[in-house]
Amino acid sequence: MRYLVTGGAGFVGSHVVLALLDAGHDVVVLDNLSTGYRKAVPAGVTFHKVDLLDYAATSAVVGQGAWDGVLHFAALSLVGDSMRDPFYYLRQNYLTALNLVQICVEHSVKKIVFSSTAALFGGPERLGPIPETAPVQPGSPYGESKFMIERVLNWADAIYGLRSACLRYFNAAGADPQGRAGEDHRPETHLIPLTVDAALGRRSALKLFGTDYPTRDGSCIRDYIHVTDLADAHVRALGQIDHRSVTYNIGNGQGYSNLEVLQSVERVSGRKVPWEAAPRREGDPAFLVADSTALKNDTGWAPRFGSIDSIVETALLWRKKNPNGYEV
Ligand SMILES: NC(=O)c1ccc[n+]([C@@H]2O[C@H](COP(=O)([O-])OP(=O)(O)OC[C@H]3O[C@@H](n4cnc5c(N)ncnc54)[C@H](O)[C@@H]3O)[C@@H](O)[C@H]2O)c1
Repeated sequence: MRYLVTGGAGFVGSHVVLALLDAGHDVVVLDNLSTGYRKAVPAGVTFHKVDLLDYAATSAVVGQGAWDGVLHFAALSLVGDSMRDPFYYLRQNYLTALNLVQICVEHSVKKIVFSSTAALFGGPERLGPIPETAPVQPGSPYGESKFMIERVLNWADAIYGLRSACLRYFNAAGADPQGRAGEDHRPETHLIPLTVDAALGRRSALKLFGTDYPTRDGSCIRDYIHVTDLADAHVRALGQIDHRSVTYNIGNGQGYSNLEVLQSVERVSGRKVPWEAAPRREGDPAFLVADSTALKNDTGWAPRFGSIDSIVETALLWRKKNPNGYEV
């Protein structure tokens, strides 16, 4: 099979590229390298440096032959930035996806897998795992942009028969267990790489935002899904959309509190993590955990890296081997 991956030079995209290659498929990557790295694309994979806002250039790539599917990861994904500059975010995420979907229809692409997000469930606090049927209430222009794209895909299916899988990720984390890829966001905002860096003495004390939530230890609870398990879910989702479109929440179903993540990093690294309590951040819910029953029932998917220690182990290994990330 031959797949086009947008955003394949980024964190999640590069791990999905590896999963597709491991499964014996051909992969082509399209990325503007705004937050991704050329080095994250494995040798031998055809790479096009193209911005999805450039309709003609994107169309030229999609027009290069027959695809068994397109996987769309390219986006900006910082919730706080989207609150400060909403129109920029909506343009970068929504218009780029609108271009891509129209181009896919024009070139008779039949399947597309889309990186959606748990951020579209922002808003009221939830105490139980979140199923796909939970009300969508984006808490930011970022979450809204992802929901707008889900709606575009809905109409592309209804009118043109373009089948899609909208995969709503919770917190992607960890790194390729073979050390071939890892996480290198700049700025880094995700808890696990920040905690790993604090343990390695690469940053000052970690700030824990909110220690008075109604949770078991007062800190927020989140669902961390290992990026390799997430990649596996993409490969399986591709097999589901020959004749229908699907929407799946993807998480490992186990919530870990911020303090439990910190303790895991201390356990796995054997080092103390310096940290300090900081006030809650506006809009941060106490509890965000996925109910991935639909994905499991349809595809037989199950996380291989369910425990927080196994996620942290791969993140730590990659950071130790690549202290400066992809920029050596
Ligand atoms: N990382 C997470 O925990 C998480 C959670 C939920 C959803 N997501 C979604 O998953 C996707 C991947 O996230 P990530 O963490 O790998 O992000 P990332 O920033 O590492 O990767 C995004 C990639 O898209 C590329 N890109 C951005 N805008 C582009 C454009 N206009 N044209 C071409 N390429 C462009 C970037 O250069 C980068 O390589 C995003 O759509 C994100 O919203 C991520």
